[in-house]
This record gives sequence, structure tokens and C-alpha cells, in this order.
Amino acid sequence: MPVDLSGPLLSAFKKAKREYEEAMKKGDMETAKKKALECSRILKQLSKYDEFNRESYLKKAKKWESLAKDIESGKIARKTQPKPMREGSSRPDRGESEVESEEEKFKAYVRNNLIAKSKVKWDDIGGLDEVKRLMMETVVIAALQRPESIQPWKGILLFGPPGTGKTLLASAAAGSLNATFFSVKASNVLSKYFGESAKIITALYEVAREEAPSIVFLDEIDSLTTKRSGEQSEASRRMLATLLTELDGFQDKKSDKLILTLAATNTPWDLDEAVLSRFPRRIYVPLPDEKATKEIIKINTRGLDISRLDLDAIAEESVRRLYSGRDLRNLCQEAIWNMIREENRDLHKLASLPFEELRKRSLRTRPLEMRDFEEAFKKIKSPLTRKDIERYEKWAEEFGG
Ligand SMILES: Nc1ncnc2c1ncn2[C@@H]1O[C@H](COP(=O)(O)OP(=O)(O)OP(=O)(O)O)[C@@H](O)[C@H]1O
Ligand SMILES: [Mg+2]
Repeated sequence: MPVDLSGPLLSAFKKAKREYEEAMKKGDMETAKKKALECSRILKQLSKYDEFNRESYLKKAKKWESLAKDIESGKIARKTQPKPMREGSSRPDRGESEVESEEEKFKAYVRNNLIAKSKVKWDDIGGLDEVKRLMMETVVIAALQRPESIQPWKGILLFGPPGTGKTLLASAAAGSLNATFFSVKASNVLSKYFGESAKIITALYEVAREEAPSIVFLDEIDSLTTKRSGEQSEASRRMLATLLTELDGFQDKKSDKLILTLAATNTPWDLDEAVLSRFPRRIYVPLPDEKATKEIIKINTRGLDISRLDLDAIAEESVRRLYSGRDLRNLCQEAIWNMIREENRDLHKLASLPFEELRKRSLRTRPLEMRDFEEAFKKIKSPLTRKDIERYEKWAEEFGG
């Protein structure tokens, strides 16, 4: 077995990266190129020590290599990250951005800010068996070799009450495919980039094509739609129009690159026809039933002894209280805290100890008891009512599928 050098290599990488950034700031392109190549070399070495992250290191190494090439060819002239624009301003701030093409600048923004790493696996999601199956099928069909006439869904809409696992499902889809995962909240892009948000969307899909297989996750898609507010700004109207064009674009191209767009919303009834028609596959992500509740509790108490719990009773009470997956996670955390506090009564007194001292001690635990949960139930309230649920169910019946 080779000696594990990943620690020192990581520091070396960080140093090289820092030097690269400094060189870029100064406009010293020769050094920047050298440092980019060094980063690439170190990442390749790192890939030998870390089996689990091998692919990801190699991918990053490639990116540094092409960065060095772009510097050499003059494609990258100076620092690439765009600055947030002032609200209402329709053009980028003057200064360093002038040198470089606008398109590259927005793509750099996408690369630096909207790519998320997903380690979520299908197993981390409790219940939702049917939803998981549908999504797995879609993802697999999209990835498989297939005759031209069989076209996978390009877009899937996930709708349901808050905290039911929509974001989790999107992450699991990306994690399982090892796809590049772009996570976008419309409201964030709008508030930061206002006038330029449509360009971010164009750049987003451009980068998604380059980095395919890709999963683009559009959270809170309802915030873009016209039905919601009459005074919807020009910026969000343009952003939506661009998004719809991008979604249509893929439908025509006979590209075998997988780019799957997943959109999520808590208020599907706010979506207008223009959006809905781009997402013919609409999946209802409901509150967990008793079986799913038990699974979610097990996921959230991993590593602890739960043999003394009456899971059926906890599940029954949770369902009665309309708990979502998020509420269940909070419930478990509360219950675990109750146990920890009881077992480590002098915990707060340790606060004055130095970190090194603390590292030597360990937390006392014991099996979770029903009383831990009974206390926790008092603290967790679902924001939902029966009526809310009926509204989702009705919408699912009418428009879901
Ligand atoms: N089905 C589930 N299985 C396991 N954990 C879950 C499940 N649903 C929710 N959770 C827990 O709740 C957290 C929040 O879930 P998630 O962010 O996926 O909800 P969401 O549906 O996207 O909510 P929102 O509509 O508010 O964005 C998760 O990080 C996870 O800890
Ligand atoms: Mg979410």
C-alpha cells in the first residue's frame, strides 16, 4: 500500500491555487498559466490516493488544464468572476470585466456558483418508492443508448408540501448518475443579478451542455411565473422566457448528451400554462405515510440504538400531526438532544476547556427512549393543515402525472 500523501498534496494544491489567483489579479498571465498547470498536476496525483474522489479529482485536473490552455490562447485575459450588479443596472460594472467576453464571464459565474456536489444516494430517502422509481427510470432511460424515436423526459416537475424531499430527490438523481449538478434558486439569481438573470440562464445551459451529463435543478420555479403576481418585473419575465426557450431547444436537438431539468415548487397552482407545458411529467411528492415515516426516522437516527422505541406509535402520531420529512428530521434531532442532555448534564461546564482537551473526551449516549420523543413532539409543529393537503391532492389529480 502506498504511503498516503493526500494531506500534503492538498495543502500544495491550495497554495498553487492561491498563487494562481494572485497572478490573475495582477494580470501576470504567464505565472497564472504555470500555476494552473501545477494545480492540474497535483490533482492528478491526489486522484491516486483517494479512490472515492478519483473521478472528481481527474475532472478538476482537466478543468485546470483547459484553463491553462485558454490562458495560452488568450481566451482568458483576466480574472473571470463577474461582480454582482447593482439592482436595475443592465450592464456589468466597468473595470476588469471589460477585457473578456460577456459570455465567458457569465459561464464562469455559473461554474463558480451554481455547481453543487451531491453525495445524496437513493437510500438516504425514506418512502417515496413510486417517485424514486419514476425518477430512476427517467434518469436511466436518458442515459441509455436508444433509438431516436424514444425520447426521455427533458423536464420533470416535483411538487408537494414543504420539506417532503423534493430537493433531496434532485440531489439523489445527480448523485447516482455522477452527473454535474446545477442548483438554482430563481429568486437568488434574480436578486443578485437582476437585469442579467436571463444571461445567467443562457450560460447555465451552455455550461450544462459542456459538462453533460448534467442535472439542472430549478428550485422555487413558481417565483418566475406570471400568474403569481401582476407586477412581476421585466427581469423575471425575461428570465422565464429564456428558460422556456432553453427547455424547448433541447427538445429539438438530437443530441445524446443528458441534460435533465428538474423543477420544484410548493405552489403548483401558481404555475402558468407556458411553464406547465414544458414539464409534462409532474410528480407529486406527498407527506410520508406511516411506513415512510418509520424509514425516515431510521435514516435520521443512524448509529444510535432505537430498539426500545415503539416506532409504530411514533409513526402514527407523526402522521396524525401532518409531519413532513423535514419535521421528522427535526423531531429526531430534538429527541437525540434530549437524550444527550440527560446523559451529559455537565456539558455546558466544559465550554471553558480548550479545544484540544475537548477532543480527548467523548459524548455519553444511551439507547433512545419513548420519553425523548414524547418531549420532542411538543416542540415540532407542522405548518400544514388538512385543507392544504387536500389542495395538493386535488391539483395532483387534475394536473399530475
Ligand atoms: N423522504 C425523506 N427521506 C429522508 N429525509 C427526508 C425526506 N424528506 C425530507 N427529509 C429531510 O428533510 C430535509 C428537507 O428536505 P428537502 O429539502 O428535500 O425538502 P423540500 O421538499 O425540497 O422542501 P421545500 O419545498 O421547503 O424546498 C432533508 O434534508 C432531509 O433531512
Ligand atoms: Mg427544497
